[in-house]
Formats: sequence, C-alpha cells, structure tokens
Amino acid sequence: MTPAELAAALPKAELHIHIEGSLEPELIFVLAQRNGVKLPYASVEALREAYAFTDLQSFLDIYYAGASVLLHEADFFDMAWAYLQRAHADNVIHTEIFFDPQTHTARGVDIGVVIAGLKRACVRAQAEFGLSSALILCFLRHLSEEDAFATLSAALPHREHFIGVGLDSSEVGHPPEKFSRVFARCRELGLHIVAHAGEEGPPPYIWSALNDLQAERIDHGVRSLEDASLVAELARRRTPLTVCPLSNLKLCVVNDLRDHPMKKLLDAGLCATVNSDDPAYFGGYLNANFVQTVQALDLSRDDVITLARNSFEASFVDPPTRSRLMARLDAAIG
Ligand code: ADE
Ligand code: ZN
Repeated sequence: MTPAELAAALPKAELHIHIEGSLEPELIFVLAQRNGVKLPYASVEALREAYAFTDLQSFLDIYYAGASVLLHEADFFDMAWAYLQRAHADNVIHTEIFFDPQTHTARGVDIGVVIAGLKRACVRAQAEFGLSSALILCFLRHLSEEDAFATLSAALPHREHFIGVGLDSSEVGHPPEKFSRVFARCRELGLHIVAHAGEEGPPPYIWSALNDLQAERIDHGVRSLEDASLVAELARRRTPLTVCPLSNLKLCVVNDLRDHPMKKLLDAGLCATVNSDDPAYFGGYLNANFVQTVQALDLSRDDVITLARNSFEASFVDPPTRSRLMARLDAAIG
C-alpha cells in the first residue's frame, strides 16, 4: 500500500471543517429553489466557475453568498448530513465541526434553528455510522466584540450542544486580541478555545491567539514557521495546528502544493493535522487533502501515521474516548 493509499484507508479525526463550507453548488441550488432565495448565479456551473479565488476575502464573499440559502432546520440538517456521509466515506471516525451563527442570525434565522438542524445530523451519524461529532461555534472576526457577546448570549440556552468557540472570517486587520474579553468569558463557561491565526496573518496573530485568547488549538498556523521562537513555543506547549492544504492552495497561501509547509511543520515536531476547511469550495474532502499532500510532498508511511495519530491527540474528546479512537487507529495499522 502506498503512503497515499494508507492515508485514505486509516481512521482519522477531522478538526477544521466549516459546515457552511461543505455546501456543494448542487445543494445551494436545491435549497435556493426550496426557499425561494434568488441567487446571483444562473446555474450550478456558473457558480462553480466563480470559485477562482485570489485570497481569503475573495473566497469569503462567495462563501457568505452561498450560505444565504440556509433558512430552516431541515436546510442545516441536509447540509450537515451531506458532509457527514462524505466524512464517513473518507474513514473519518470523529469530527469537530465549526459553524458561523452570525451569518444566519443576521438574516433573521434563530440560532436554535441552526443548532437543532446540525445536531440532528450529528445524532444520525453516530447512530448509523458510529461517527462521533461535536460542534464549535465560531465568532466572525470582521464584526465587533459586542456582536460576539450578543451571539454568545443567544447561544447559551443551547450550551450543551457545543463544546467550544472559535474565531474565523477576515483575518488581517482583526487580530485575536480584539476578542480577548469575550473569549475570557467563554473560558469561564468551560468552553474549549480555538482560533484561526497565521493563515494570512503574521506570527504576532498566532502569539495573540495563544496568549490573549489562550487558544488550545491554532487553526491553520502555517505562518508560524516565520518565527523560530513561536515554533519552539508551539512545540513546548504541544499546541496542535489544524492545517488545511487544499485551502492554502486555493486561497494562494502557497502557489503549489509542493511548496506547502506541512512537512516542515512535522519535522519541527509540531502536532500538525490535515483538514478540509471548506471542502465544497477548495476541491476536496479529507482524503483528497491527505492524498494530494502526501503525493506532492512525498510524505512517508511514518508521516501519514503521525498525522492520523495527531488528529486524535488534538481532538477534544475525553481521555477514555481518545484511547478508544487511538486503538482503532492501531488496529488499522496492524
Ligand atoms: N471561514 C470559512 N473558511 C475560513 C477560512 N479558511 N479562514 C477564515 N475564515 C473562514
Ligand atoms: Zn477555516
């Protein structure tokens, strides 16, 4: 078995997937018709043709437009169920899913409707596939901290349905420290903390995520390699990086997958993981990310096993669950 085939076959966790980024163009059109939402694209093909991104913002503009078709509980269920079936097909046995409530509440959708639809899909995936999942609520960093506080208040009646909070959307110009107070409140509430940092933003944004937000995981973090003392600190704390290679390629963070820093991150001893970010927009789900990265960087069998192991180490499951997930990985390695 080649390292790429092994990567596809192994059981894995996915820890960086925006559920709104799993909305395929076909489903966008189905939901637009079902809900009477007018789209600025004539067809599925025309929408797909617009997926030629130059940077993060050029993607986010289309990503938020796509999410505008989501109105009812059934829409959120259909989106999440489609993702979970694809994750299962890629041998994902545990997933921690981001959702962006402000994208929906700004259009008058109740946050309870969003969470109920996502949760119902998660329950079904556990029952049908034995695939465990958890939800992580992301604050949009281009909006104010006050707006994030209001979102947290609206979410608290649903506290048992999400395990943590994250920070996403337009990075540059919106450093983590802008959200220090709301994340402090989230920590008091016992929520796990993650944050996008070092996708387009410089190393000080990653330092701020670590020190001001006390992030337990860094989403992306590929620019950490520009600061040797930061790499040393990430290694010392064993803070995981949830890296998304096809996203980095499609958003021009790297010009070629052969230039992707994944191998350097692994060789620096960091707990790097492979994830799909927004798979409907970036050309593939988890196994596509693994296979293309393994091939482009000529990763070894040991690298692949490390990446699968890191995915479980970096997850927020409790210790007995982590042991069970690791045991399934060990059994598959043989
Ligand atoms: N929202 C969805 N995908 C994102 C990404 N890659 N970076 C920041 N915000 C996002
Ligand atoms: Zn992301």
